[in-house]
Amino acid sequence: MHITRVELGERSYPIHLGNDIIHTFPALYRSMDLPSRAAVVTDSNVAASHLKKFSAVLTKEGIESVRIIIPPGERQKSLTRANRLYADLLNRGFTRKDALIAFGGGVVGDLAGFVAATFRRGIPFVQVPTTLLAQAESAVGGKTGVNLASLKNAVGAFYQPKFVFSDVRFLATLPRREIICGLGEVVKYGYLDETMFAFLERHLDDVLQKHLDVIQEVVLRCNAMKAKMISEDERETDPEGGRMVLNLGHTIGQALEVLSNYRLHHGEAVLIALKWELAIARQAGILAEDDFNKLLGLVSRVPFEPDLHSISASALIQQILGNNKAVRFVLPRSIGKIESSISIDKTSVLSAMKKMLGGR
Ligand code: GLY
Repeated sequence: MHITRVELGERSYPIHLGNDIIHTFPALYRSMDLPSRAAVVTDSNVAASHLKKFSAVLTKEGIESVRIIIPPGERQKSLTRANRLYADLLNRGFTRKDALIAFGGGVVGDLAGFVAATFRRGIPFVQVPTTLLAQAESAVGGKTGVNLASLKNAVGAFYQPKFVFSDVRFLATLPRREIICGLGEVVKYGYLDETMFAFLERHLDDVLQKHLDVIQEVVLRCNAMKAKMISEDERETDPEGGRMVLNLGHTIGQALEVLSNYRLHHGEAVLIALKWELAIARQAGILAEDDFNKLLGLVSRVPFEPDLHSISASALIQQILGNNKAVRFVLPRSIGKIESSISIDKTSVLSAMKKMLGGR
């Protein structure tokens, strides 16, 4: 078992990571003096595979769990769903003396975290991520929120969990599509750090083949990098970059998600966007050809053939820029060197998008 700490003064917390460690969850939960009753928010896919076992572990150790199961998918990250969760918690008599456990992938974590942040002005919550994407990225750092119709994560809060508990054994049953989604965020971490890049060059295929020992090492490395960034720049205010560099692949990625009506999952959109943002960096002359080829080479090894026929460059530009004449991108300058605020004018973005979309 590995423990990585996110240092945030009195809101510091550990990330526990291991293989087949779920039985250690109750002791950790109890050691933090958390409420003896918790709502376990999960989706129907995770519930079908893992909820029975998790509930049994909780019950055996005297933690009362109230199960709340939502449908899967990004559309659940909405105020409508949040409202239903508030009503569920109220109907069960939940107060600030109860807790919430987010048990699932990125959607469950963001939504349940937002509900925890806002229900009765905040109840304690714990992240138990069950996907590669959530373990490597979204469960750590306290970004919670829901989407509005045309803007991802438009309503939300920074609200840190009491701890994060990642058991890579959950990933053994994860569909290949979810591993590929996770790789979107994981490859991003490779772009942020030369050592991580070299590690992924060696082990990307092991991740695709779901070698859990390698996946655990990948998650550990991502968590260590993210924990440091969060400790230094929790609210993404550092003008020198800080946490903002984690938005690499997200300016275009989030626009693609919205325009595809969420047919593209988050990690898939990030995979596409990483490639396109590399092209923008190259076109703007800030990324040398050699590094461009190496960075592109890694992301291109993730087997994913997107169907983008319904998306046009002009719709993308509208989604990304609105009425602005330029947009600030997070872009790579070289492997491991990311710049967080590079202004690219509309014409350049449009020409790059058109190239990517075959002139559409
Ligand atoms: N997912 C980016 C961040 O947590 O800052």
